Formats: sequence, structure tokens, C-alpha cells
Amino acid sequence: MGKAMNEKLGHSEEADGIEEYDNALPDWWLGLFGGSIVFAAIYPIWHHGMEGNTQAAAYDVEMAAAEARWPKTEMVAELPTDAATLAAGEQIYQTTCASCHKADLTGGIGPNLIDDTWIHGGSGPEILATVTNGVAAKGMPAWGAILGPQKVQQAAAFVFSKKGTGGTTAPAPEAAPAPEAVAAGTGEAVALDGEKLFQENCAVCHKADMTGQIGPNLIDAEWIHGGELDQIRTTITKGVPDKGMVAWGPILGDEKIDALARFVHEKSHPQ
Ligand code: HEC
Ligand code: HEC
Repeated sequence: MGKAMNEKLGHSEEADGIEEYDNALPDWWLGLFGGSIVFAAIYPIWHHGMEGNTQAAAYDVEMAAAEARWPKTEMVAELPTDAATLAAGEQIYQTTCASCHKADLTGGIGPNLIDDTWIHGGSGPEILATVTNGVAAKGMPAWGAILGPQKVQQAAAFVFSKKGTGGTTAPAPEAAPAPEAVAAGTGEAVALDGEKLFQENCAVCHKADMTGQIGPNLIDAEWIHGGELDQIRTTITKGVPDKGMVAWGPILGDEKIDALARFVHEKSHPQ
């Protein structure tokens, strides 16, 4: 520094008419350079060593803001017991839940809901949480995303209101294979009725005429997961848990799923 402006450096060859001058670096540039060195020394100490703006702190701030905006009171309060809520809940239950838990709540594919045995807890908030979040791995759909918070609360309130009215029956008979599945396993003797299975297990979401409701239309030409027989069989077996399609493999077993897949395939590919 200290040299006069526009003094040629002298050592370099001129190239394409460009020569090198020995000018001092501009003050603003030196200021930024020095400033970033100072900043780089202080910032890590503040960020890592002190309670700086860590990701955890930012997360806490965002969670607090979300909680202020969408209060969790619904999740902790006991469920409503007024007649209007229970009537609405019963209707939702009969159309949406009865296919797995039976119309009288004594259980089928899903466990008995009126005995004293609870897998996920029988308090109001626990029932609400189970219905909202489902148990994807066990075939209980996450109804929160499908029905929305109000209907879920009504259905949960209805279940809660029936709690304990059914004695102490053992939970879900799911372990015992259905007689016709056993029979089918021995050969072609019993042909499983795909249509009947569909109405019992699938119509609640795909509608009795298969035109779709919670789950998509199964008889149009549009497929999310493929319309070949093998693809349909795979979708039914594995489900799409995060989209609300139950993984039926462990619930129904291979024979019933094969009958269902053939039924869906046949209906969606009319000759
Ligand atoms: C596709 C079948 C299916 C449907 C439809 C279904 N459930 Fe379930 N549900 C299950 C299964 C399977 C379980 C057992 C989960 C487990 O073993 O962890 C279950 C568990 C539950 C539980 C927890 C029981 C316990 O012992 O903790 C509640 C409560 C419940 N379901 C309510 C509902 C409600 C309300 C609806 C309708 C909105 C519904 N279910 C629809 C299959 C179903
Ligand atoms: C709890 C609601 C629900 C039930 C019960 C249900 N499904 Fe689904 N199903 C869905 C949803 C939601 C989807 C869409 C998944 C996605 O978006 O990826 C779906 C997708 C499908 C698909 C794929 C469609 C495509 O376009 O690729 C088939 C096939 C299917 N379901 C068959 C069945 C059969 C057979 C049953 C009865 C054993 C059944 N579903 C029961 C909700 C359900």
C-alpha cells in the first residue's frame, strides 16, 4: 500500500494489451475481508458453544408458533359426550369402521372396542390419537388425514361412549384363520367370492360400485400403482399405508387377496 495509483508493476509481460498495475486493494474489499475473518472466529463459538441460533432452538421457536396457531387442546381434553356428537359419530362408525370392527363393535379384522382390553389405551385422548394416527403396520388406517379432525373426534367419542359395555372378551380373533381360507388352502375346492370380500372389506373406501370415495375409482382406466393383475395383487397385499390404503396381506392372507385381485382386475378390464 502507500504507492501511488496507476503505477505499473513492471514485472509482468503485457498480454493482449492488458498490463498489471500495483494498486492498493479497495478499502471496502479489505473491510469485508477483515470482517469475515473476525466473524469466522466469533460465530462458531457463539453457534456451537453458546445457546446460539441452533437448529434445535429454531425448531423450538417454530413449534411454539405452531402450537399458538393450532392449539392442542382438542388432543388433551376429554371427548365430547353430547347427543349430537355421539349420533354423528355412530353414523361415521357404521359407514367407515364397522367393516373391520363390526357393527356392534365386538371386533373382526380390528379388535373388539367395547371390552376392557386396549392395545393403545382406552382413555379419550388415547382413542382419539389411535383413530387419528392409525396403526399402519397392523392395518388400522390413519383416519385423521382421511376424515379430518371433526369426524375423527365424533367417531372416537362414539367409541369412547361404548367403552366397557362388552365385558372382557379376548381381543381380535385375527390370529385364527377364517375357515374358508383354510379350505381354499387345500385346493380348488372352495372358490373364494371376490365380490363378497370386496363388499365386506373394501367398499367402505372404494364404494360398493367401485367408483371410489376415500380410495380411488378402481374401474376407470387410471391406475396409480398399475392395473395388471400382479400389480393389483401387490398393491392390495402391501397397501399404501401413508395414503390410507391398508396393507391387507397380514389381514386377509394370500388366497383372499388373490380372489380380490382377480375380481378387481376383471371389473376394471371388461371384455
Ligand atoms: C381396515 C380395517 C379397519 C378399519 C376400517 C378401522 N379399523 Fe380400527 N383397527 C384396525 C386394526 C387391525 C386395529 C388393531 C391395531 C393394532 O393391533 O395395533 C385397530 C385398532 C383400533 C383402535 C384401538 C383399539 C385398542 O385396543 O387400542 C381403535 C380405537 C379403533 N381401531 C377405532 C377405529 C375407528 C373409530 C374406525 C373408523 C373411523 C376404525 N377403527 C376403522 C382395523 C381397522
Ligand atoms: C381405509 C380405506 C381403504 C380401504 C378399506 C381399502 N382401500 Fe384400497 N385404497 C385406498 C386409498 C386411499 C388408495 C390410494 C393409494 C394411493 O394414493 O397411493 C387405495 C388404492 C387401492 C388400489 C390401487 C389403485 C390404483 O389406482 O393403483 C387398489 C387396487 C385397491 N386400493 C384395492 C383395495 C381392495 C381390494 C381393498 C379391500 C381388500 C381395499 N382397497 C380397501 C383406501 C382403502
